[in-house]
Formats: sequence, structure tokens, C-alpha cells
Amino acid sequence: MEKIIIVGASGGVGSAVARRLGAKGAALHLIGRDEPKIAALAQELDASFACAEVTDEAALSAAVQQAGEAKGLVYAVGNLNLKPLQSITVALMEQDFRVNVLGALVSVKAALPALKRAGGAIVLFSSIAARRGFPFHASIGASKAAVEGLTLALAAELAPKIRVNAIAPSLMRTQLAARIVANEATAATIAAAHPISRLGEAGDAAGLAEFLLSADAQWISGQIFACDGGRSTLNTRN
Ligand SMILES: NC(=O)c1ccc[n+]([C@@H]2O[C@H](COP(=O)([O-])OP(=O)(O)OC[C@H]3O[C@@H](n4cnc5c(N)ncnc54)[C@H](OP(=O)(O)O)[C@@H]3O)[C@@H](O)[C@H]2O)c1
Repeated sequence: MEKIIIVGASGGVGSAVARRLGAKGAALHLIGRDEPKIAALAQELDASFACAEVTDEAALSAAVQQAGEAKGLVYAVGNLNLKPLQSITVALMEQDFRVNVLGALVSVKAALPALKRAGGAIVLFSSIAARRGFPFHASIGASKAAVEGLTLALAAELAPKIRVNAIAPSLMRTQLAARIVANEATAATIAAAHPISRLGEAGDAAGLAEFLLSADAQWISGQIFACDGGRSTLNTRN
């Protein structure tokens, strides 16, 4: 059966996408770097799985290709290194670029033969920080802006058979944001900065990813979807 490949399936959003699709009977191929975690999720969802560090091109390509046939790819990998400019190094930015951008590129390239045969959809992950400036977000902002450029270029190049879209979330309660939201006062302040005044949950982005993978989205490609409680576009203060 044609599968949906989820890279970063051990993460908050990746696992939420996997569980949503699994509940609807989709065949899944899960990829993560933490073998016990990914094996347990694969067993729960009766999915195939493979392990790779996304900065290892050969390992990641092989892990994606193990899916065999595929009609969808989700790259839900990401990290968050918030640092003032003086602490940012070229090495840090290169590593963040590898994790957020090059891992997505490698995954798409590896999945392409299967996706070309079946036709399908790709969902990548940006961030609100790609288009809205926040202090200390230089590295992640630059990487996610590159993800958005990659999304548009690939959507053009792979049309009409393969659709490519990206989701740009604001802060969601997943492992990635755990250090920031650990302080409840900080979490409440950030929540209040959203017109829909709460933090995001993994399910908020997972529901959108599920839609973008589905046939209901078959005329949608080359789009960046904010999933951010209105934070990127709305001012409710006047
Ligand atoms: N949560 C937010 O506030 C937020 C905001 C904006 C954008 N996003 C984006 O949304 C997407 C999903 O993030 P999330 O919230 O689900 O975060 P998460 O729970 O921390 O999951 C991140 C995933 O990326 C994997 N990963 C990180 N570095 C890796 C590496 N070098 N090699 C292999 N896997 C690696 C993690 O693997 P392990 O489980 O092994 O660590 C995990 O599966 C990401 O692209 C993120 O940038 C999230």
C-alpha cells in the first residue's frame, strides 16, 4: 500500500500526524533517530520504521527509500537555538540549516521516485519566525525562511504531480518549546500575545498537515500556511 513517510515521527507534531493518519487506516513509514521511541510508535500504529540522524545524508536517504511506495512525505524535524547575535556562530547556523533545510531537501530527493510514480503531497515545516522578527531568532528565522523558499521552488518544479506546502506555526507545547514554556508565567505571557490567546498544541499543526496531504487539498500547492492563533497577521489591541 502507498505510504505516508513521516520524518521526525518521534516529535510532538510528527507523532500527532502519525496517530491521526494511523487512526484513519493510512499506511505509514516512520523515521526518527531515537530507535526505541520510533520502534514503539511503529508497533502502536502497525507502521514500518527506520532510524537516521537527519544530518547524515546517506542514512537519511536510505531510511526514506525503505518506505518503498509512497504518496506523501512530512518533514516535521526541527530544533530551536535561541541566541543573541554575539553568541551565534557560523557552525551553529550551519547545523541549524542542516537540520531544518537540508534534511528536508534530502528527504524529498529520496522520496521523489516513489512520489512521482504515485503522485502525492509533501508537507514541510517553517515557523512564524521566518517572516516576523523576534530577538534571538536569527538562526531559526534564517533556516525557516529558507524552508519557505524551498517549498515554493519545489512546488513549481514538481507540479502538477506532486504538491508541496509548508506550515508555519507559532509556539506550540512540544519538546522543542519545553524550555520556554517550563516557566508558567512566561508561557502565559506568550499565550496572551496570540489573538487566539493560548499556545499551540501539536494537534493544531497535525490537523492542518493531514488536510494538506489529503485529496481535499488537491488544488493547493506552493503555499505557506500560518498556524499561529493569528499572531503573524492580527492586531487586536485597537
Ligand atoms: N513547537 C514549536 O513551538 C514550533 C514552532 C515553530 C515551528 N515548529 C516546527 O514544527 C516542526 C515540528 O516540531 P515539534 O514542535 O514537533 O518539535 P519536537 O517535538 O521537538 O520534534 C522535533 C523532531 O525533530 C527531530 N530532530 C531534531 N533534530 C534532529 C536530528 N539532527 N536528526 C534527526 N531528527 C532530529 C526530533 O527527534 P528526537 O525526538 O530524537 O529529538 C523530533 O522528532 C519542526 O519543523 C519545528 O521547527 C515548531
